Amino acid sequence: MIIVSGIQPSGNLHLGNYFGAVQQFIQFTQGGHDCYYFLANYHALTSLRDGQRLCSLTRSTAADYIALGLDPAKCSIYLQSDMPEVCELQWILTTVTPMGLLERCHAYKDKTQQGIPSDHGLFSYPVLMAADILIVSANRVPVGQDQRQHVEVTRDIAQYFNNAYGDLLTIPEAYIPESVATIPGRDGRKMSKSYNNTIELFAPEKVVRNQIFSIVTDSATVAEPKDPEKSMLYDILKLFCSLEEQNSWQDRFRSGGLGYGEVKKAIFERFMEKFGPARARRKELENQPEYVDEILKQGVERAKKVGLPLIRKVREAAGIPNNF
Ligand code: ADP
Ligand code: TRP
Repeated sequence: MIIVSGIQPSGNLHLGNYFGAVQQFIQFTQGGHDCYYFLANYHALTSLRDGQRLCSLTRSTAADYIALGLDPAKCSIYLQSDMPEVCELQWILTTVTPMGLLERCHAYKDKTQQGIPSDHGLFSYPVLMAADILIVSANRVPVGQDQRQHVEVTRDIAQYFNNAYGDLLTIPEAYIPESVATIPGRDGRKMSKSYNNTIELFAPEKVVRNQIFSIVTDSATVAEPKDPEKSMLYDILKLFCSLEEQNSWQDRFRSGGLGYGEVKKAIFERFMEKFGPARARRKELENQPEYVDEILKQGVERAKKVGLPLIRKVREAAGIPNNF
């Protein structure tokens, strides 16, 4: 199977990104699939207008991917902007995309409903995402729940194109395991770079500790029994636990005598245990920018091997000459 996914380098990677996306990226790669993972830096322009910061976040997020265990020998890691054919495909796709389809998309709709002016970039964001996916003829797209609509829209756009020009585009499917579809943030909303409610994967230890200890809880005393099903703290803790451990923590929540401080401490310890090796590797990569650049170069070369033949066929079908 061909797998594709992207992450916007618009802020520091967090637990939601890891469990909702990167963990599945690693599984597909280890499963021997043909995987393409990229940094959606053109998408990031819709929320970040600081060139220097975007450029440095793009580099550091590439290093984050590698440090987290995405094996560059087994999958292609690249920058969206190194594959300009994506933008070309996007334009062609815009010409078969009904306005109504994009007007229903939540990022744009939410802003408009709140009376916040939005721009054309935000409006056509899902078409660029469709181009990212369709250019490599992907079958599966591992993402968090918030991206489901965008993958549905990609399917519709591909269908509109195929109806007009013949079956050139592969219809992809979202891959969203239920248990990690939406990781809650420190304030209970979806964890997101844009809500300032994250637990960052690569922040200094002290910052991570503060972030974990600032997860919002109710005012139940230590002695009171607590319902794990209603506890956001438990939702985060269980990400780090085997099924057996989950059951034992559930019992401890229900029987009383368990304070939130103890749970937070357990989350912190498990976080450090799980991400310790990646954090150390991440530090090493800081001194190896050429290595990261080389991986991105090889990654885009591989992506182009599948993307270029596709765009040539698309041009041909649409009547755009492949002159050079
Ligand atoms: P953010 O919302 O923080 O800006 P991105 O939009 O860059 O994150 O998301 C990158 C990937 O991580 C996407 O597949 C997205 O669905 C996933 N993701 C982000 N936050 C969460 C979350 N809280 N729970 C599950 N998946 C998430
Ligand atoms: N829109 C996605 C997000 O915000 C990032 C993204 C861009 C993406 N292009 C993609 C994800 C293609 C999957 C496939 O999380």
